[in-house]
Amino acid sequence: MKQKDYIPVSKPYLPSEDKIIKYIKEIYKARFLTNFGKFHDLLEEKLKQYLHIPNIVLTANGTLALQITYKLLDIKGIVITTPFTFVATISSLAWEGIPFIFADIDKETLCIDPNQVEYLLKKFGDKVDAILAVHVFGNPAYVEELMFLKAKYNVKLIFDASHCFSVWYGNRNILTYGDISIISFHATKLFHTVEGGGLIINNGNDELVKKAKSIVNFGIERDYKISCVGINAKMNEFEAAIGLAILEEFNEVIKLRGEKWNYYYQNLKNIVKLQKRNRFANNNYSYFPIILPSETQVLDTIDRLKRFGIYPKRYFYPSLDKLPYITKENIPLRLDNANYIAERILCLPLYPDLSKQTQDIIISTIKEVLESA
Ligand SMILES: Cc1ncc(COP(=O)(O)O)c(C=O)c1O
Repeated sequence: MKQKDYIPVSKPYLPSEDKIIKYIKEIYKARFLTNFGKFHDLLEEKLKQYLHIPNIVLTANGTLALQITYKLLDIKGIVITTPFTFVATISSLAWEGIPFIFADIDKETLCIDPNQVEYLLKKFGDKVDAILAVHVFGNPAYVEELMFLKAKYNVKLIFDASHCFSVWYGNRNILTYGDISIISFHATKLFHTVEGGGLIINNGNDELVKKAKSIVNFGIERDYKISCVGINAKMNEFEAAIGLAILEEFNEVIKLRGEKWNYYYQNLKNIVKLQKRNRFANNNYSYFPIILPSETQVLDTIDRLKRFGIYPKRYFYPSLDKLPYITKENIPLRLDNANYIAERILCLPLYPDLSKQTQDIIISTIKEVLESA
């Protein structure tokens, strides 16, 4: 069977043209393009309602949300984090000159292992300022254990919840955990604003929310006073409009993604290793990662699918301890699990209009690779 279209791991969802044109016409009329316009403020409000979160400060992307978080929490000491994540989790720390060390991940959930985190908390004592955990592929990290460690060792807790649009843990939105949670609204995410992101401040400190809103605008407050060092991290009106239009269609987006996700699941669950999902959380169907027995099989799968124009993604690869700017100071512990998983993981194409025909090609190719081993 031949497949001509280019099939990437993720195709950005675009809202209906009619809907987005309506928003754009309003922007043309108002000629107010950025600096907290009507759509920016409306998106903030709608997201608060939709996600049941106490606040959200919209940003130009998720990476800046991380960098602003470090400033808000005044992080200067060591941050314990994971090597199995998108590079922005750690490049944001490196960019800010914040020292960080890696703890290994749990091989089943793919999230940071709290036992390893505690080992590092004991070893590095009060040099540690924060834990930065990632809810990998929308699967909540060990939230309770990490909150326990936060209290026991008196450190800050940040969640990189970039993959977590509409994830509920217990009866709370996952974004309501940690001192601060950040999210990405990049075009590849299931809800997006082309580029964009946000941070959710959960420590009940309204002053911090106010400060975050000024930091994203050079430190300028809404009454034009400048009270702190800031940066330009504002979300503009066109981006906010895309978000508002997608939000109107989001139930359909998640329904369609769920159908594709379940089709993969039914056909692959007995033949390939999958991420163990947290049973207290819903699935937002953001990714469909598979863990193959060997790296050779990952490369073989990529090679065979390429012939059909299908491009799954090695995500996350490599384990971040392999980056050229990482030194032995960043790696106080062995990172066997992160390296094992990074070498064997493959995220399969997943988006609302992915065809069953393409999914069938992918499923049968994986079967062929496993049988030929
Ligand atoms: C885990 C993780 N952290 C951080 C980011 C950075 O977000 P952005 O691309 O919006 O800057 C991403 C997304 O790309 C991500 O997947």
